[in-house]
Amino acid sequence: MSVADAITQRESVRSYTAEALTLDELSALLWATQGIRRVLSQDCALRTVPSAGARHAFETYVAASRVEGLPSGLYRYLPLDGELAQLSIDDQIGRKAAYACLQQRFVASAAATFFWTTIPARMEWRYDLAAHKVIAIDAGHVCQNLYLACTALGAGACAIAAYDQAACDRLLGVDGDEEFTVYIATVGKR
Ligand SMILES: Cc1cc2nc3c(=O)[nH]c(=O)nc-3n(C[C@H](O)[C@H](O)[C@H](O)COP(=O)(O)O)c2cc1C
Repeated sequence: MSVADAITQRESVRSYTAEALTLDELSALLWATQGIRRVLSQDCALRTVPSAGARHAFETYVAASRVEGLPSGLYRYLPLDGELAQLSIDDQIGRKAAYACLQQRFVASAAATFFWTTIPARMEWRYDLAAHKVIAIDAGHVCQNLYLACTALGAGACAIAAYDQAACDRLLGVDGDEEFTVYIATVGKR
């Protein structure tokens, strides 16, 4: 699909088929949103999305309900290795994600839900008070790439910023202080 077609056809999709994502599709979506493009040094890598000062202050967690070959549960993306760390196996992960998203029902029917957390210290040491502005800007790039990549794969995504902060942080097992949820998006086949 051309970039122009992906941009034209992009829309928020909240209704999904029962079809699972393949592991290759999930891998492509993770790469599109936070994949490593080039390692510059031990401390710095460039990714598929831009980031102020190449600080890349996000972590990606996936609540996977229907991904072929992946037990239902919670995973964390390890972009340097191109791998997923399994945090829990949980056949209720979709329902729990929906609860953390203020009971938005479509979340429970998603094949996978991406949760992006930030570790603000990665930005703050360099940008001080401006760090929080650029973290918010960076998050937009990440989710836009998810939307466009989903469109190209025949899947749909929906951004979510209406969520219960404490419930999301608890679900992901992050402390809500040094690391906390900033943005969420559901994904499923159309
Ligand atoms: C920052 C942000 C937060 C959003 N939060 C939600 C949300 O919590 N629930 C939801 O159903 N849609 C959410 N959306 C999707 C918007 O409702 C959607 O983008 C808007 O209606 C325009 O539709 P379109 O994306 O199909 O062009 C969000 C979108 C953005 C960019």
